[in-house]
Amino acid sequence: MCHEADDSLVRLSLALPDEAATLSLGARLAAVLQPGMSVWLSGDLGAGKTTLARGLLRALHYEGRVKSPTFSLVEVYSFSSFNLYHFDLYRFADPLEWEEAGFREYFNPNALCLVEWPERAAGCLPAPDVEVRLAFSGEGRVAELVGRTEAGRRCLQRLVV
Ligand SMILES: Nc1ncnc2c1ncn2[C@@H]1O[C@H](COP(=O)(O)OP(=O)(O)O)[C@@H](O)[C@H]1O
Ligand SMILES: [Mg+2]
Repeated sequence: MCHEADDSLVRLSLALPDEAATLSLGARLAAVLQPGMSVWLSGDLGAGKTTLARGLLRALHYEGRVKSPTFSLVEVYSFSSFNLYHFDLYRFADPLEWEEAGFREYFNPNALCLVEWPERAAGCLPAPDVEVRLAFSGEGRVAELVGRTEAGRRCLQRLVV
């Protein structure tokens, strides 16, 4: 793992040799993220974005099936004190749909938002606290995590200790 920190940026690179490692990164993120934050999950099809979301949800004790929201655009998970919204914007085409569906209100202090394919709704989405970029590396994956807000940077600092 390499860890680079300065005032403006926290950037981590992590090797994820197998699926279990991606699930475990999701679980570690679950321990440091707070309601009100938003996390972008970037990377090609099959890079492990949904797997990471699944690891995160399992760590929050969600026992059901974690479906890819490819067709619904969003899956909603209700916890006792907050909601988790898992977006997959791969099929997102129409900014008007964003407004009409009320997705803007999903980004609120009582919600943790995970967004796959954020680049597809670039003009609509609020800036993330943490960006996770997943890429193929041999049989496994690598993750790069970047803190984009003060709160996001603090999360990543807690992730490495
Ligand atoms: N670190 C990893 N190494 C190898 N395979 C992985 C890793 N993380 C996830 N996978 C596998 O990659 C496949 C696609 O993952 P998925 O999370 O659906 O990708 P995405 O949502 O980015 O399209 C799944 O079969 C999953 O088990
Ligand atoms: Mg996916």
